[in-house]
Amino acid sequence: MYYRGEVTIAVCPGSFDPLTLGHLDIVRRARTLFDVVILGVARNSTKSALLSAEQRVEIARAALDASPGLEDVRVAIVPGLLVDFCREVGAVAVVKGLRGGADFDAELPMALMNRHLVGVETVFVPGDPALAHVASSLVKDVARFGGPVDDLVPAGVGDIVRRAITDRAAGSTPAAEPMRPTQQTPPTTEGTGR
Ligand code: PNS
Repeated sequence: MYYRGEVTIAVCPGSFDPLTLGHLDIVRRARTLFDVVILGVARNSTKSALLSAEQRVEIARAALDASPGLEDVRVAIVPGLLVDFCREVGAVAVVKGLRGGADFDAELPMALMNRHLVGVETVFVPGDPALAHVASSLVKDVARFGGPVDDLVPAGVGDIVRRAITDRAAGSTPAAEPMRPTQQTPPTTEGTGR
């Protein structure tokens, strides 16, 4: 995608609590549209995260490194407002996946708010219908009751989720954690094929 003749940068934001195969599908589609894609681990104030932001970043990094063609996708913590992060990294768009109408209903107000705040556009990408039932919240719910989730998430993530659920039940991990920013490296044209 070309934007005023410059390298285009997009942010794929989310809670990623945990990252699922559905998220990876959307990141892969975003990577076909934009030169640089940043997976932004953000805080959704309407949800209480199971995994720490650092765990979610580690999971995303490992999964992207293990996904051919996605190794150059960056991973960062979004410490505050998504629009501030977009401005900081020079993103021209936010990319969000849609599994169905309910996703659109939830996403549209956020997209409109983000555009109202700084003018950043949101690109909605329909996800793979074969993954339409895959949601982080359902993964956690199935895992909580001992169900199988390993074919819904990247390798190793099922174990991390089960351990976190056990730790949380034992009271050894706090329910919420502050979001600390990751080190930002300015995007370059290197490796973008342009
Ligand atoms: O995966 P999610 O939980 O649906 O993603 C929602 C998320 C984290 C992208 C959204 O809550 C967000 O952008 N949080 C960062 C703080 C922010 O900018 N809030 C205002 C959104 S209009």
